[in-house]
Amino acid sequence: MCGIIACRTREPAIGYLLTALGRLEYRGYDSVGVAVRTTGGDIARLRTVGRIGTLEHRFRQWAGPVLDGAGIGHTRWATHGPVTEANAHPHNDCPGRISVVHNGTIENADRLRDVLRAQGHRFTSTVDSEVLSHLIEDASQTTPDLCEAVRQALDAVEGSWALAVLERGSGRIVVAADGSPLIVAHTARGDFAASDIAAIADWVEEFQVLDDGEVIDLSAAHRSVDEDRPSPTMVRCIWHSADTDLNGYADHMAKEIDEQPAVAARVIDELGGGVADGSLWTGLGLDRFDRLQVIACGTSLNAGMVIGNTLHQLAGLPVTRCVASEAGMDVPEPGTLCLAISQSGETADVLNAVSARVAERCPILAVTNSSHSTLARRADGVVSCSAGPEIGVAATKTFVCQIIAGVAVTVSALAATGRISRSHAAALVDDLRRLPDQLAAAATVAKSVVPPLADEFLEATGFIFISRGAGLPYAAEGALKLKELTYRWAEHYPAGELKHGPLALVGDGTPVVVVDNGDPRLATNIAEVQARGGRIVRIGSIGSSVPVIDDALGPWGPIQSAVAVQVLARTTALALGRDVDKPRNLAKSVTVQ
Ligand code: M6R
Repeated sequence: MCGIIACRTREPAIGYLLTALGRLEYRGYDSVGVAVRTTGGDIARLRTVGRIGTLEHRFRQWAGPVLDGAGIGHTRWATHGPVTEANAHPHNDCPGRISVVHNGTIENADRLRDVLRAQGHRFTSTVDSEVLSHLIEDASQTTPDLCEAVRQALDAVEGSWALAVLERGSGRIVVAADGSPLIVAHTARGDFAASDIAAIADWVEEFQVLDDGEVIDLSAAHRSVDEDRPSPTMVRCIWHSADTDLNGYADHMAKEIDEQPAVAARVIDELGGGVADGSLWTGLGLDRFDRLQVIACGTSLNAGMVIGNTLHQLAGLPVTRCVASEAGMDVPEPGTLCLAISQSGETADVLNAVSARVAERCPILAVTNSSHSTLARRADGVVSCSAGPEIGVAATKTFVCQIIAGVAVTVSALAATGRISRSHAAALVDDLRRLPDQLAAAATVAKSVVPPLADEFLEATGFIFISRGAGLPYAAEGALKLKELTYRWAEHYPAGELKHGPLALVGDGTPVVVVDNGDPRLATNIAEVQARGGRIVRIGSIGSSVPVIDDALGPWGPIQSAVAVQVLARTTALALGRDVDKPRNLAKSVTVQ
């Protein structure tokens, strides 16, 4: 949700900025912009609506002053104000002495803007972030040091930020974070700051994650040592840009669907050894729990419900589902373990919910794909879902890996606390080890049988997904994937609920996708749909329209159906001419509430 990059490099900064922005584009792609110091000490600012390609084109034709090695850049997911060039970052102060890029939300922006306007500041955009430029300008009147001026300006701000400020003349860059992610790395090529390691992984061996409230000068030459803060913990960079190359695939989603068997095998290899003996759980140092609350959003919430269902089926423990953005509605009972699931580990709704639970003294177990994320740092225990970089905005391989990692730690907890026997846990691990082959087979089948179905549904305005029991989170995931990629209505319902209202939506040819979890009552629900002319697509075992599911299901339900619904959504979306990697209005890392 907005990506920022800043660098002070020995070679011209613009190459680094454009490359990094391309890799951050998944965080937002409404507009993009950079501010770069010229060799004469001015700031050259270029912004465009839309994607990075337009900006790259404008730089290929650049006939302005020579640019040097200090610059900042931003890719925007619009929150405050429409998608226009004026609203694109970087934002300048009145005299153009500083440029600012910001990720986050300034909650008191309206009030600050009124005060600054009354003081004579001229605003050129409607975005909240622009108040930062003018606040820093104001602070600089009395505090000439940029770092101090930024600190002082931020004292007036309520909200969240990761920001970078470039100063005209000196080319100094100051970066700061609070509630939004920012990492900093010092390398042989120069100094970098970015929203995400994926942006700068090629140039970096290790990096630090800024703590909330930190303000630092990016350039080592200017860095002052804050004695109140411990020296930063350095994280080794294990990502490579090659991991995010398309490698011949048409889009990242196709590649990430195909990667699922391999990444599933990797997670099982990493975690499987600690399941039956309970050591995966005991190693986390968490207390025994009597109930579970799943906290997450979107696909991660669906994965969480698979994990919750598994726990409930194996041990009968109560499980509640907390939509993170509505976490205030639930108060967990004593003995609750909160399972916070987030691919990015930076989802604002999840972080807020987790903060509330920490205040309520609930232990937090995080399952995340980013072990240095804010969620990982706030949680009492962390299990990595090790899916590797996922670039497509639609979650695919992270869904499967979250389920496996969450199931592994859940079964380990049950074994460690004697709620299931070690031999039962070992048998479940054997079942998990079969998943990579099952997922690979599901992909092969889905890719052959789904395209004709997708063609059939191009005119359909809406889709219904139904299932029962352990199949329901997969039906929910199917509807989510389809709507986010095709921009067509898609809803999921427990199959038994159809007759209580949604059946009114079914007419001639309405597509109703059944995720068949083997519940015999589904046959009646299918008949109800067919009697009204609905077109059933059954994702199930042999004999189904999409035969991807084995008869013997683990307690985690029909996980192979995830591959089928991904292929259905992608194929239909492509046939409709959609961009499956960057669906409209969305972004991958949702760092605003
Ligand atoms: O990073 P997170 O897992 O916390 O993101 C939560 C949702 O925004 C995310 O799962 C979203 O629903 C998917 N990208 C949809 O495919």
